[in-house]
Amino acid sequence: MDFRITEEQRMIQEMAREFAQREIAPIAKEIDEEERFPHETVRKMGELGLMGIEIPEEYGGAGADTISYVLALKEIARVCASHAVIMSVQNSLVAYGLWKFGTEEQKQKFLIPVASGKKLGAYSLTEPQAGSDASNLLTTAVRDGDWYVINGRKAWVTNGPHADYIIVFTVTDKSRRHHGITAFIVDTKREGFSVGKVEKKLGIRAAHSGEIIFENYRAHVSERLGEEGQGFKIAMHILDTGRIGIAAQAWGIAEAAYEEAARYALQREAFGQPIARFQAIQFYLADMRTRLEAVKLLTLQAAWKKMQSLQTGEPYTQEASMAKLFASEAAVEITRKAIQIHGGVGYSREFNVERYYRDAKITEIYEGTSEIQRIVIARNLLQGFARELGIDFKK
Ligand code: CAA
Repeated sequence: MDFRITEEQRMIQEMAREFAQREIAPIAKEIDEEERFPHETVRKMGELGLMGIEIPEEYGGAGADTISYVLALKEIARVCASHAVIMSVQNSLVAYGLWKFGTEEQKQKFLIPVASGKKLGAYSLTEPQAGSDASNLLTTAVRDGDWYVINGRKAWVTNGPHADYIIVFTVTDKSRRHHGITAFIVDTKREGFSVGKVEKKLGIRAAHSGEIIFENYRAHVSERLGEEGQGFKIAMHILDTGRIGIAAQAWGIAEAAYEEAARYALQREAFGQPIARFQAIQFYLADMRTRLEAVKLLTLQAAWKKMQSLQTGEPYTQEASMAKLFASEAAVEITRKAIQIHGGVGYSREFNVERYYRDAKITEIYEGTSEIQRIVIARNLLQGFARELGIDFKK
């Protein structure tokens, strides 16, 4: 096994790290406090090629690979998880979705501005009654000649309040459940679209998520992503790639918390010596470091598997879910321990670790909760054994 990264992957990681330190670190605390969407730095991320890292250059992207993407995203998350999720949605859920499932006309019209960061994208599957139960949608798209008329209300759309284009999943045939869902690329400047309530959140406060409302919004047939009835599979396929992004985000948050805790432990004295001399603290740090290494390996493995999949078409659902599950739970645990090592000041908003803890929590929830990841992983592994045994085991 060769764990070395290539020169190109290293350069992209360093570029992202340097950008995050120079441009994002000075504002990270402030935008969290003010719950302010960072339009200016997001625009600069686009100029640097960070908004379409894996997309070929002919479609406005940087033409790099998935490992470069996760390394860059981790570096951004290390400094600000809000910037990281904005970047992850744009890259994984929107640009990748348009590249994988869009027509040539859609790529020219929507992918190029999204991948080059000139336009902001969002992905909208969730509805108030359809979170984990993602196919239980009520938003409808009714065919009217060459158009579809969309009505309904979607919830928790990350980037939604500011997005130019949104991939939206609707019901075109309720009787067919999963097979009656259809995706559209929605232009938010068009009549019939509006933004509803913007959520007040525990963490990732500078990244905005909110309701979007459709009242007789008309989408042209050329704006349908994939065929009628293919929407659920498209949604799930895109989420496989999204979950690798969330694993990288969790990795970055956890790395920042671990590093700050280790430095603090060497500097803070109690009972006449640095607290790093106490075995309790050493055990915390050893566990944090070990978990972080496992997060790194699982995330890079999932990224590598996705790169293979682009050649072979083999699914990488299992690796993506395992990376997301482990990384998000590790991030919550590592940030919790980082606060514990800091003691009272860790609970203060003067220090970064309380923000890391708040930001880490969402990674266990969005793009499929930890419970959903366990369902996906269990179904996949059992189906593998069932095939071997010649048993029919669908779920
Ligand atoms: N790739 C392609 N197709 C897939 C797939 C995948 N990974 N997973 C499932 N499918 C297909 C199945 O093959 C099946 O197709 P057939 O009927 O043709 O056989 C179909 O989809 C239905 O699959 P299931 O029967 O497994 O569906 P289910 O209703 O049991 O749901 C689930 C499965 C895993 C629970 C799914 O609903 C799920 O992932 N839920 C969580 C939703 C989620 O992650 N939401 C996140 C919203 S986006 C977000 O959070 C963004 C953000 O804010 C940053």
